[in-house]
Amino acid sequence: MNALRVILPASCLVAAIVVLIAALAACTGKPPYPRFEPTPMEIVHEMLKLARVGPGDVLYDLGSGDGRIPIAAVNISSADRAVGVELDDQLLARAEQKARDAGVADRVTFVRQDLFESDIAKATVVTLYLLPETNLALRPKLLRELKPGTHIVSHSHDMGDWAPDRTLDVEDRYGKLHRLYLWRVP
Ligand SMILES: C[S@@+](CC[C@H](N)C(=O)[O-])C[C@H]1O[C@@H](n2cnc3c(N)ncnc32)[C@H](O)[C@@H]1O
Repeated sequence: MNALRVILPASCLVAAIVVLIAALAACTGKPPYPRFEPTPMEIVHEMLKLARVGPGDVLYDLGSGDGRIPIAAVNISSADRAVGVELDDQLLARAEQKARDAGVADRVTFVRQDLFESDIAKATVVTLYLLPETNLALRPKLLRELKPGTHIVSHSHDMGDWAPDRTLDVEDRYGKLHRLYLWRVP
């Protein structure tokens, strides 16, 4: 009985704290933070092909993790330049080292910045692997800043009621299916 008297108020307190944290997150108006989960390299190649990345392109990866998409855009698809926007210092350091190792550090830049505050006006291609809520929150920025004709490719998540110009289902090397979405900015 005594144990129950202690456990019940304690569980109420935990529940109240959880509700309070959720309410505070909602009040900031910011979508949840997508944690690092790399796009498998074979899927990166499909994303670049879907966006038809090639010479003349400037690719921005918003939330660039270990830098694999910007590096492949320049190294494999021959984009002119690529920019990765990322907040995690360790991932940024890893990405910069990988760009140096691949010999593309002069054409691939990594910026420590919140992707919602980055200047993406120079992009001809934008790649995303975020969360559904983050994609939705990004829509006004994409429309405001990107030039008509800019390609947007998202791994796994759609853009709500924005109808994609193309979707593609691709299997990774383990047989897991990944859905890719392509939009062209009107
Ligand atoms: C799922 S990972 C994708 C990494 C990479 N684009 C890829 O496809 O391999 C999402 C990345 O976005 C970064 N990220 C999340 N929210 C961010 C924000 N507001 N500004 C900058 N980076 C962010 C995370 O640190 C994480 O590295």
